[in-house]
Amino acid sequence: MSTPLENTTASAHVFPPPAEFAAAAAATEGLAAAASADRLKFWADRSQQLLHWHRPFTEVLDWSGAPFARWFADGELNVAYNCLDRHVLAGNGDRVALHWEGEPGDTRTVTYAELTRDVKRAANLLTSLGIGQGDRVAIYLPMIPEAVVAMLAVARIGAVHSVVFGGFSSESLRARIDDAQARLVITADGSWRKGKVTPLKPAVDAALAAGPTTVEKVLVVQRAWASDQKLGWQDGRDLWWHDEVAQVSDEHTAKPFPAENPLFILYTSGTTGRPKGILHTSGGYLTQAAYTHRNVFDLRPETDVYWCTADVGWITGHSYVVYGPLANGASQVLYEGTPDTPHSGRWWELIEKYKVSLLYTAPTAIRSFMKAGREIPGRFDLSSLRLLGSVGEPINPEAWLWYREVIGADRTPVVDTWWQTETGGIMVSPLPGITTTKPGAAQTPLPGIVVEVVDERGTPVADGGSGLLAIPEPWPGMLRGIWGDPARFVETYWSTFPARETGPVYFAGDGARKDPDGDIWLLGRVDDVMNVSGHRLSTAEIESSLVAHPWVAEAAVVGASDETTGQAVVAFVIIRSRHAEDAAAAGTTDSLRAHVAQQIGPIARPRELFLVNELPKTRSGKIMRRLLRDVAEGRAIGDTTTLADATVMRAISERFTAEHHA
Ligand code: PRX
Repeated sequence: MSTPLENTTASAHVFPPPAEFAAAAAATEGLAAAASADRLKFWADRSQQLLHWHRPFTEVLDWSGAPFARWFADGELNVAYNCLDRHVLAGNGDRVALHWEGEPGDTRTVTYAELTRDVKRAANLLTSLGIGQGDRVAIYLPMIPEAVVAMLAVARIGAVHSVVFGGFSSESLRARIDDAQARLVITADGSWRKGKVTPLKPAVDAALAAGPTTVEKVLVVQRAWASDQKLGWQDGRDLWWHDEVAQVSDEHTAKPFPAENPLFILYTSGTTGRPKGILHTSGGYLTQAAYTHRNVFDLRPETDVYWCTADVGWITGHSYVVYGPLANGASQVLYEGTPDTPHSGRWWELIEKYKVSLLYTAPTAIRSFMKAGREIPGRFDLSSLRLLGSVGEPINPEAWLWYREVIGADRTPVVDTWWQTETGGIMVSPLPGITTTKPGAAQTPLPGIVVEVVDERGTPVADGGSGLLAIPEPWPGMLRGIWGDPARFVETYWSTFPARETGPVYFAGDGARKDPDGDIWLLGRVDDVMNVSGHRLSTAEIESSLVAHPWVAEAAVVGASDETTGQAVVAFVIIRSRHAEDAAAAGTTDSLRAHVAQQIGPIARPRELFLVNELPKTRSGKIMRRLLRDVAEGRAIGDTTTLADATVMRAISERFTAEHHA
């Protein structure tokens, strides 16, 4: 079991909610009472209160086909209508939906009325391109308003989006397009990142050039360049977004779709080389996104300015940039670029400029700000902030305390939220008006959610014990499957523990500890999934990318702890003997690292790569990653008695020490 950060040291400090905050908070004790009195009624009530149902549901949960769940299944709704039209109809059309800021400093303010109109046009455009209910649309866009518009337009017509993070390579994009059999790709010419244009359309071209494809059209948003002279253009396939939306009506009536209509597929790394297409549907997902966004962030839509720094290419961007905030009618900041362009105070400048009151970001970002020093945020007025959130990886108590003290002026509640692509929405988190928070702990399952820490047999551990995080009861935002692979869905998530009378138990892949008060502390992944800067990467996927290189005979990848990014990718590679001479030339390790970045995306580039003669294996041939992790983290090497050849580790560790001191 890997523990990327020793996250178990309870800090002496605890922070009760400020009295003023508690008195006005959205979430009160009544929530937990209602949930424990009747959990399904609780969810039915939340859903009816938070959403508009074109046709009300009569059944809350159908778990008879477990682990394939159906929530609110006989109800009908339109997800985009819930995020847009109803706010305009309620008289809030002039409220700002998006305060968008481009990296070069260009801005756009988009009201709910404008966003609704843009989505209606885009929905008409998609329909005119032949896209309808159930069709898959790949979205490969930067953080620009059109990303939000595209997702909502797809949702509005009952189609299914598959957003691919703009940092993924053309190969990764192609694999996702093929798996989902997307008919349309929506992209941009490029995006601004670190003061330069990162081209996107060329990656789409490369992806589609790799053999016959299901993609019929490519819609291109003009973001980076004033003309198309830098772009390859395939007539009949490629269309400018701005030309096409200008030709369609901005009137569009949102039709209701069944609650279980698929809403999106989002690919995430698993323990094999092949990413999994996590499938989410409409009514249950939107209920949980809206409920958690409202209560965990204590949202007051009339007055708050909310900012979630995640990219729409990740689940956090889906649930807490697009669906949760917009369903709740929030005003939010959307920022295209990186935190340090054009200067290292850019985020704090944006908080001051837009008077951001609720901030949601990742521990990696917090740790890199800590490193840069408190003087930088100290130059800006951050007094508008009233709540801070953290997500994506365990937050160490030092980072938690710095976040609260330096960014939150020792005044704002901090909520550490645990969840996953698969859970759709937040599962474990303090409620800011109720919970006395502990730095470094996600603490309590939200009202309506059941999460336990169990041993390997699935039995709950006592307070003070450690084990695995498990979810024994279905929840509305849960994944409904892995696209095209029901067997993998059952095997990956529902087969680790014995089923209970109530049905199968979900395995999250995380280790966790319960402290003596019964609060939950997350300890990191227990499988071969790494968490680098809050992004999930699979050791197997990077290994298969390395062995695809003609020089590489074998590769082993581990996640080693890293002060800033939580974990970092460290690779050990054996070169084929006939390429030993090529590889002896300088720059080999760099070119292999670049190969991974090019195949998967820059986030997967190994921090370090070591050429070795052998890998530590058990007698049955299984690579012992635990030992490699010991080496990569500079620890004494653990028990090697099960190794087929005990001398291997000595050689590797000598090589490692030599290179580190070189
Ligand atoms: O290991 C947990 C970690 O991130 C994993 C989920 O990754 P992903 O699906 O990419 O979603 C990230 C954003 C929700 C989890 O299995 N993780 C996420 N949040 C936390 C966390 N680990 C500890 N504390 C958290 N708050």
